[in-house]
Amino acid sequence: MKSRGKIGGWSTLGLPAVFILCIFVFFLGFFGSSLLSQQVENEFSLHPRRPRVLNQNEYEPLPRGDSGDDSLTTIPFQVLSWTPRAQYFPGFATAQQCESIIKMAEVRLSPSGLALRKGDTTESTKGVRTSSGMFISASEDKTGTLALIEKKIERATMIPRIHGEMFNVLRYEIGQRYLQHYDSFNPIEYGPQKSQRMASFLLYLSDVEEGGETMFPYENDESMSSTYDVEKCNGLKVKPRKGDGLLFYSLYPNGTIDPTSLHGGCAVIKGQKWVATKWIRNQEEFY
Ligand SMILES: *[C@@H]1O[C@H](CO)[C@@H](O)[C@H](O)[C@H]1NC(C)=O
Repeated sequence: MKSRGKIGGWSTLGLPAVFILCIFVFFLGFFGSSLLSQQVENEFSLHPRRPRVLNQNEYEPLPRGDSGDDSLTTIPFQVLSWTPRAQYFPGFATAQQCESIIKMAEVRLSPSGLALRKGDTTESTKGVRTSSGMFISASEDKTGTLALIEKKIERATMIPRIHGEMFNVLRYEIGQRYLQHYDSFNPIEYGPQKSQRMASFLLYLSDVEEGGETMFPYENDESMSSTYDVEKCNGLKVKPRKGDGLLFYSLYPNGTIDPTSLHGGCAVIKGQKWVATKWIRNQEEFY
């Protein structure tokens, strides 16, 4: 009897009330669904008749020329410095690519060499560069990893591959470092040069637990401040991160050496540092 009473309660609402309720529910559904579909359209541009609205980070590629790309490329970078011109490329290579390069290099390591200036001897420059390294060209790498990296560097810099030297893969162990130096060769010190290293691309192949930063002691100022300390390794410091790239230019656009491109590798304190360097020349096929 009690349940009947309840049903009776509903029926006492009367027909007009049920009708209004129905209309209300109908409109609620109608507006709700149209609101929802609009959101979907904005996200995926499903509506065929409306002009395609590009998202903030979506662009339409231009028709390409004979030698260009028909799609857009995204290579994220961060400008680390304008003096010297230095860019950081997070996630430039995959972990797998890094490991593959290390594996290739490991078996062929020998103590890194140094280009000597007039008056320098092997003995007098001992301790300047203490890493082990090897040179390898992309064509020597049968896995194709170095060719892929080289191509990506080429696209990031728009400097054709033929301007690049072979990869120099380096390993720094605890205590090993590379004192500040220029990658370009000043003719006053090194004699006339047929071609010049204009830019350097460093691909970090490993993380380093502590130390091992690439440092630019002259960043934003051409004179080393009196507080500079080789052992403290101060200046702009770039901490190696596996797979990330660092590009910096040793020459100004007018071709003269940028004095702020002086740089070094701080001593590794904990862990091991692996890096693949690609020096880029201002002339083709210099070797
Ligand atoms: C080359 O460019 C740098 C930087 O803009 C400038 O300081 C220097 O004087 C220029 N050198 C020559 C020879 O034009």
